[in-house]
Amino acid sequence: MASEGNKLYEGRLVGRTDPILEKLNSSIAVDQCLSEVDVRASIAYAKALEKAGILSRAELDKMISGLEKISEEISKGTLVIAKTDEDIHTTIERRLKELIGDVAGKLHTGRSRNDQVVTDLRMLMRNSITMLSSHLQQLIWTLVERASAEIEVILPGYTHLQRAQPIRWSHLLLSHAVALTRDSERLIEIKKRINVLPLGSGALAGNPFGLDRELICKELDFASISINSIDAVSDRDFVVEFLSTSSLIMIHLSKLAEDLILFSTKEFGFITLSDAFCTGSSLMPQKKNPDSLELIRSKAGRVIGRTVGILMVLKGLPSAYNKDLQEDKEAVTDVIDTLSAVLQVTTGVISTLQMNKDTMEKALSPDMLATDLANYLVRKGMPFRQAHTAVGKAVHLAENKGVTLNHLSVEDLKSITPMMGSDVSQVFNQQSSVEQYSCPGGTGKGSVRTQIEQLKELLKKQRE
Ligand code: ARG
Repeated sequence: MASEGNKLYEGRLVGRTDPILEKLNSSIAVDQCLSEVDVRASIAYAKALEKAGILSRAELDKMISGLEKISEEISKGTLVIAKTDEDIHTTIERRLKELIGDVAGKLHTGRSRNDQVVTDLRMLMRNSITMLSSHLQQLIWTLVERASAEIEVILPGYTHLQRAQPIRWSHLLLSHAVALTRDSERLIEIKKRINVLPLGSGALAGNPFGLDRELICKELDFASISINSIDAVSDRDFVVEFLSTSSLIMIHLSKLAEDLILFSTKEFGFITLSDAFCTGSSLMPQKKNPDSLELIRSKAGRVIGRTVGILMVLKGLPSAYNKDLQEDKEAVTDVIDTLSAVLQVTTGVISTLQMNKDTMEKALSPDMLATDLANYLVRKGMPFRQAHTAVGKAVHLAENKGVTLNHLSVEDLKSITPMMGSDVSQVFNQQSSVEQYSCPGGTGKGSVRTQIEQLKELLKKQRE
């Protein structure tokens, strides 16, 4: 049974905290995720206290063994949270006192929950970002693999959601992959700025006991120590950066989800989603709903909401720590959980969907080659603007005659411009159309192959 814990500040305040404030103030439901890193950081802090002469060697050993016992209890799920524990730091300090007695009271020397909590959060986020990066890279890899395997397939490309030009299915898959590699790069970047140690900043003024912060830095695998203690306890830029990058990832995923939802409708029929990533209707027996993709799309709203929420909390705060900052953990952990699930579901959807080549190819209508017809005239020397007008007239004529563009007679075409010849028929070939786009970045096969290689190379570098 845990003792009903004493507050960490009970000397100053008289009487009980109002229960309704206690409820509002408590962060224990959210910050238990920090328990493991909190213990680890405390062990490193205790070592620095020993080096500074605050703890004897024997006291340090006692403290470490107590903290290790708590760590064991955390992994076994037996660490008891008392109702009165305000946050996880209170729980751990209370438990340490139960285990090793009054010497536990030396651990917080020169430390504040202000530098403690932000150190914990940085440690938690470091680990989580490594996990998220690996899910993200797995998704990019899945897109690249699919693009490589299905490079022959051509489908209509859309702008304004209207048929525009034929493109390779791979080219479209890679467009999503490329956007995600930028996000992957961003996550790697953020990690650098997260990996700065605030511990040793105290409440705001710094540490008065000659603490070796470099020692703590090394113990906890941080790359460097924070420069300014006032900034260190209040800086949540890394939280904003993480949430913003997560928002961008979600925006990219919701675009991908939207493409696939449309493509999976009977009207398009370009893809068939695996049953494992769909649900049915309780009323309409024929329904197969793309819930996985709809959830990806909706979670974008959730993540963006978290980001905006934290920006609102930070806006206008005075310097150093303020309790408002406690809101950060709920936003961060919710986004980590959401992103982790969404990335894995997206990978699942992509790797299991069936691509319907014939339906895609049937949807390639001749009007989509109107630009090619204009380019044909350009190659014969006509300025593009004139060619555009001439082909626009041809499209109009075809519509009036109720035929497709490729079924206008050579005479019809010549009536628009004598530069049209019988060789015009060569334009109406979807395969050779896409092959023209051989410049870097385009939809020609060679160009798409290069994109696949570039992405593979990028992924390799990012994994290093
Ligand atoms: N639970 C608090 C948080 O998450 C810990 C820091 C409390 N600091 C304080 N000065 N009351 O931010």
